[in-house]
Amino acid sequence: MKVLHVAGARPNFMKVAPVIRALADRGVHNILVHTGQHYDTTMSAAFFDDLGLPEADVHLEVGSGTHAEQTAKVMERIEPVLGDDRPDLTVVVGDVNSTLAASIVCAKLQLPLAHVEAGLRSFDRTMPEEINRLLTDQLSDLLFITSPEAEENLRREGAAGEIHFVGNPMIDSLERHLHRARSSTIVNALGLRLGEYGLVTLHRPSNVDDPAVLAGILGALAAVAGRLPMLFPAHPRTVKMMRAHGLERFVRIGSTKATTGGVTCVDPIGYVDFLRLMADARIVLTDSGGIQEETTILGVPCLTIRHNTERPITVTMGTNRLVGTDPATIRREALAAIERPKPDPTRPPLWDGHAGERIAEIIIARR
Ligand code: UD1
Repeated sequence: MKVLHVAGARPNFMKVAPVIRALADRGVHNILVHTGQHYDTTMSAAFFDDLGLPEADVHLEVGSGTHAEQTAKVMERIEPVLGDDRPDLTVVVGDVNSTLAASIVCAKLQLPLAHVEAGLRSFDRTMPEEINRLLTDQLSDLLFITSPEAEENLRREGAAGEIHFVGNPMIDSLERHLHRARSSTIVNALGLRLGEYGLVTLHRPSNVDDPAVLAGILGALAAVAGRLPMLFPAHPRTVKMMRAHGLERFVRIGSTKATTGGVTCVDPIGYVDFLRLMADARIVLTDSGGIQEETTILGVPCLTIRHNTERPITVTMGTNRLVGTDPATIRREALAAIERPKPDPTRPPLWDGHAGERIAEIIIARR
């Protein structure tokens, strides 16, 4: 049996790794296609190393571009790969442009398609990922869901694929690598003290592409940093915007040590070191989807700088709180969260480290 996997951007790699491993353990021939949506070492190669992913069999090298350019390039370059290989199944993960592009090509070539992390909805169509999710789910034959409400979303939209509640493969990766993360020396190396720093990530277009919104958020973070040092491993998109709009005054860029009383921007950090930084943070402030899930399992308070989430279970069961983008609210909520005792970790159903195995069993049984 031949299964082709598509991965292209940083949040894909930790989802695809457990599925590939579980299929390989069961004798399946895996083909990994890297679209090249993310290409910097810190955004891609570092994750392959940390996660023990096999080297990609095919590199499409699409790089950056507008949404249409990037999606079109993936479609154009993956079509001959899929057409020649004709895999028994193609697996796409998450909600990035590479996910949607590969799904459309599979549908047109009438090749069976599976979507891992199906049915998540923010109900916000201004979010590019929401469009990618909606369309990918319409085209998929197998819909692997991470939480029960995803099934309602899919049924409401009339998705025709088979729905399977399998748990969360991103948590498989967390469980597999947490032990190694615990021996990472990154916290000390950055001059931070365990449990005495905040960790920030920010990259959503709605937060970083408008200089006024970005300035407001950075101002709030700088104010919170007066109470607790803030470490900000910054996405290239965000650094580009900070530089373009003269917003470096809110942060310290290019430092290798965190400072008290400030927000320290460092380059993006690899998977294992970032896991360590999350696990020992006092609070995490983010607009990432995956980090909302990881902090829930780690029992670290997460303030999500967005008005909605496609992962509501992290709010109802986990440590996540939506704080929106108003600077005064971010500041107030962050300062309050710092003073609260650390919550207990919680585990949504089936987020048990075995999602990849469940997915592999279903794929093989369907053959
Ligand atoms: C993409 C995904 C988003 C995901 C995020 C994680 C889509 C629509 N968006 O957003 O869902 O949460 O990845 O990081 O697919 N750049 C580099 N080096 C890289 C990659 C990007 O410098 O390796 C810069 C480029 O200037 C590029 C910008 O970052 O234009 C944005 O990259 P892009 O892949 O378009 O979107 P992300 O914001 O990374």
